[in-house]
Amino acid sequence: MSTVSPKGLSPTDRAPIRVAMLGCGTVGSEVARLLTEQATELAARAGAPVELVGIAVRRPDKHPELPAELLTDDAAALVVRDDVDVVVELVGGIDPVRSWLLAALNAGKSVVTANKALLAEHSAELFEAADASGADLYFEAAVAGAIPLLRPLRESLAGDRITRVMGIVNGTTNYILSAMDATGAGYAETLDEASRLGYAEADPTADVDGYDAASKAAILASLAFHSRVTAKDVHREGIADVTASDLAAARTLGRTVKLLAICERVTADDGTESVSARVHPVMIPRSHQLAGVSGAFNAVYVEADAAGELMFYGQGAGGAPTASAVLGDLVAVARNQVHGGRGPRESAHAALPVRPMGQTPTRYHVSLDVADRAGVLAQVAQAFAAHGVSIAAVRQRDANDTASLVVVTHLAPDAALQSTVDEIAKLDVVHEVVSVMRVEGEDQ
Ligand code: NDP
Ligand code: HSE
Repeated sequence: MSTVSPKGLSPTDRAPIRVAMLGCGTVGSEVARLLTEQATELAARAGAPVELVGIAVRRPDKHPELPAELLTDDAAALVVRDDVDVVVELVGGIDPVRSWLLAALNAGKSVVTANKALLAEHSAELFEAADASGADLYFEAAVAGAIPLLRPLRESLAGDRITRVMGIVNGTTNYILSAMDATGAGYAETLDEASRLGYAEADPTADVDGYDAASKAAILASLAFHSRVTAKDVHREGIADVTASDLAAARTLGRTVKLLAICERVTADDGTESVSARVHPVMIPRSHQLAGVSGAFNAVYVEADAAGELMFYGQGAGGAPTASAVLGDLVAVARNQVHGGRGPRESAHAALPVRPMGQTPTRYHVSLDVADRAGVLAQVAQAFAAHGVSIAAVRQRDANDTASLVVVTHLAPDAALQSTVDEIAKLDVVHEVVSVMRVEGEDQ
């Protein structure tokens, strides 16, 4: 079947869109495979053949599966070659990738990248270079792998007012927390198991300490709230301190623990708006849609004034799923080049300030072992009251001369909640602060 474009030329008669790919590892090898296997389909969708003209890797000799004439270890030279129209970057990290992509954009080459670390720090500079030369910058794969999420935020919801983006954006930590919840095992042994099964990377720091999710939160907050938010603006806590006791406490209350990225538009009493972006473990009710997301899957929940609540779910990582998002971007760039037009530019017009974590309204779940005698509850309640924190629920269970006390608060500034917990920990009647965790997904 031949497909004829509106201007009369069939896609295969058009000059090809020439692609330089940087990196050919987990994601890049799948992009290369799909570009070859689906060449005819992609040409029909893009309006012209999409042709790989160069692949930069660190060690070309380690890639006998790739055509030798395409391989180079000189990415800097490849990105500015005259026969390159689009650069697909699948190396990762900030330097030297940043300089390659700036050189490509400055030379008018459009860029498709999956690099969340780079975008979370330097998207403003990259967008400025793209604007100056008229090139496109697409990065769907940078957040939540295969899940179409950034295009809905950048395009489909561009006419709406987004108030909240909250989700599971890191598969490794979700796998670990799901396994801890299912087995009752501790963090360290579950991480070992995740590494053995190949879910966690050799150096899992970026995942378990929340850096990966914080980069993604910065990208989501920037797009959702039309403001520049970088990874440094995101409050970040990882899962290394989540204990089997936290999971057990959550289970007792019909909750589970997830590492969430939470980006919110916060309106102060005087009507001024700001952005809050944070990544930390939270307890959510088991009935919440995000609680059912287990293993290495991702899911993101978006709330907008007119659209209401939206849920995006799917594979957040892996070679083929991530390649799907990369190829979608590549087709978009190719269509723009064939038919004219540009992809969305940076939208940072709202320029909302970032609210410090201490001023961000959160709710706490505090589990304590306390002395079981008259006046103890009053002392604990007094500590909350002294910091202006309102208590939503209290539950007590007795065991010999110790009582297990669980307090769940209403919304309060995070700093006030933190100070309350610090004060409670010093009370003579408190034997141990067993678990402290923020709560999401319930009535306030
Ligand atoms: P890999 O580590 O599997 O591959 C990296 C590739 O980059 C390798 O081919 C490597 O070459 C090449 N490379 C490294 N340094 C250089 C250099 N100096 N010059 C040229 N090439 C170089 O990474 P992934 O495929 O996993 O990730 C790529 C990007 O996609 C990252 O930004 C990552 O965050 C993002 N991403 C990854 C996901 C995943 O599931 N893996 C999911 C979503 C996003 P060589 O092969 O010779 O070592
Ligand atoms: N390390 C990331 C994760 C890969 O575990 O989700 C996808 O960005």
